[in-house]
Amino acid sequence: MTDLDELKADLLARVGAAENLRALDDVRVAALGKKGAISDLMKGLGGMDPDARKAAGATFNRLKTEIAEAVEARRDTLEDADLNARLAAERIDVTLPTREEARGSLHPVSQTIDEVVAIFGEMGFTVAEGPDIESDWYNFTALNIPPEHPARQEQDTFYLPGEADGQPILLRAHTSPVQIRTMLARKPPIRIICPGRTYRCDYDATHSPMFHQVEGLVIDETTHMGHLKGCLIDFCRAYFGIDDLPVRFRPSYFPFTEPSAEVDIGCTRKSGEFRIGHGDDWLEILGSGMVNPAVLENCGIDSTRYQGFAFGVGLERIAMLKYGIPDLRTFYESDLRWLRHYGFAALDVPSMVGGLTR
Ligand code: PHE
Repeated sequence: MTDLDELKADLLARVGAAENLRALDDVRVAALGKKGAISDLMKGLGGMDPDARKAAGATFNRLKTEIAEAVEARRDTLEDADLNARLAAERIDVTLPTREEARGSLHPVSQTIDEVVAIFGEMGFTVAEGPDIESDWYNFTALNIPPEHPARQEQDTFYLPGEADGQPILLRAHTSPVQIRTMLARKPPIRIICPGRTYRCDYDATHSPMFHQVEGLVIDETTHMGHLKGCLIDFCRAYFGIDDLPVRFRPSYFPFTEPSAEVDIGCTRKSGEFRIGHGDDWLEILGSGMVNPAVLENCGIDSTRYQGFAFGVGLERIAMLKYGIPDLRTFYESDLRWLRHYGFAALDVPSMVGGLTR
């Protein structure tokens, strides 16, 4: 075997033995690079006589081509192997079933707010909000609630340490302060509902120290008691989904409305059975009335020109009635089993609302 055959065999063996693209490149440089073995051979051509140079040149070039081809072939093999290894490692089995996703649900309070907002939204009401921490003035005084009113006593209202503008501060006991804030900030006509948290010092199966109300307020030049009745009858029927639900207005008293009416809906309570919509019994669900002119004046609204009505409803209460939830305290115990049982799939909301407002 000549030196050349040996060199060729050696280079081919090294090409074949290259385990990866980097090792292969090292072999390529050692053979074909500027300082490589074959380039070295080429450099020797200069010292040969013309005939020998011609023959040797052709031989060296063949060797160079052969080695270059071997390197290319090896590169293809290594690249294929690389790709196959990646494909094998990253293989995704598209036939596998997906993992079950943990899905949350809407709390009945959120669901009920959505339903109430949708019903009043169709009647042209917009949503207004206010702070949970209020001053005595917004929660009581501006609403014509006199200092001796029992609601002001500490056992009902959570007073907080400190003052704001020289006024005691407290956790709002109803959403009515949002009426005041809206009337101070905007000129009539006004048509708002205010869903929100409210606080009273009370705790049993139908009371929780924090609960929700939706308050409504309509102020303009022509609204009268007939509008109040029509609006609330429509609301009760839409919310409970009973077209002929009996609704009754019973005279009542609130300092901030005059006249005032409590709203009852028809129900049955017989031998332990309770049903809404039929029978000869009544259940109170709302407070309402024509806004007291004194409240309008407290908010800088001319009571000889403007009038309107207001109402307030306990959100948990109407949710309990509609969805058969017996104990109000369970709303806030964060028991997952309860939430799974009474919660709503988020996607149910649009169809539910559509069904209610028809
Ligand atoms: N603010 C009253 C309450 O909390 C409800 C109400 C609102 C009554 C508006 C009449 C008018 O009990």
